[in-house]
Amino acid sequence: MISINQAESCVEIIRDRGLTGEIDIAMVLGTGLGSLAEALDDALIIPYADLPGFPAGTISGHAGRMVIGTQEGTRVAYLQGRSPYYESGDPATMFTPLETLQKLGAQCVVLTNSAGSCRADIAPGTLALITDHINFNGQNPLLGTGGDHGFVSLVDAYDPRLIRRFKHAGAATGTALSEAVYMWFSGPSFETAAEIRMARTLGADVVGMSTVPEVIIARRLGLRVAALSMITNFATGVMGGHPTHGDTKDMALKGSVGLKRLVRAFLRTREDAWGAPTRPT
Ligand code: HPA
Repeated sequence: MISINQAESCVEIIRDRGLTGEIDIAMVLGTGLGSLAEALDDALIIPYADLPGFPAGTISGHAGRMVIGTQEGTRVAYLQGRSPYYESGDPATMFTPLETLQKLGAQCVVLTNSAGSCRADIAPGTLALITDHINFNGQNPLLGTGGDHGFVSLVDAYDPRLIRRFKHAGAATGTALSEAVYMWFSGPSFETAAEIRMARTLGADVVGMSTVPEVIIARRLGLRVAALSMITNFATGVMGGHPTHGDTKDMALKGSVGLKRLVRAFLRTREDAWGAPTRPT
């Protein structure tokens, strides 16, 4: 169940540890991508264990801490590690972390993940900008939250202005960025070859085990969203794809270098150059 008080307590704890002012942007770092939070000026590090309602991570490749600091002149809060649905069977585990970020002033959240590619032309080791999703898992983090607040619009859920900023950052850094529809599978087992053929037929370009519930929560909170997939492998049966957790972690680590470069360039772009923000829900 969602608890507003937990996010308020988290904000108090973070303020007590010395955070002043507001953060500009939040980032959620997926498996093997935690190193993005390195090299922050004046980093404030808070383990999830100190923050009520934050997930106690158990999955390797997820550090489980919040790192707040300044990068490219922007106040950034990184969540090093998420609690994916497959860990608990609860799609709402990231509600308190995302609400805490919103209460600290964040207006946007950038979600990163590792994903398998359903397409021969989206190769492992490359990055994809998510432009839309298919909630194949069918779970929803807003189920049971009551009232009218659950009827969240997912039109432009992946904010067009943030997408433009990322495309600009990709061009500026020579980083190839595919555009992809992401299909959410529950995991933790990987997909069958037949499921991937189905995913492709239904319009998915990449598949993964996270992100979608976070997008729904973020839109509920009025946060604008961008999401990036590190393509770690071809999905089962695509170009002989045979994903394993070890291989996806290794590939995400390798790819994090390019992702870091891209994120830095993204942070250097300024919002007002990209037109009016999309309306909050
Ligand atoms: N399937 C689901 N999730 C993933 C994959 C995959 O092939 N690769 C990385 N995360």
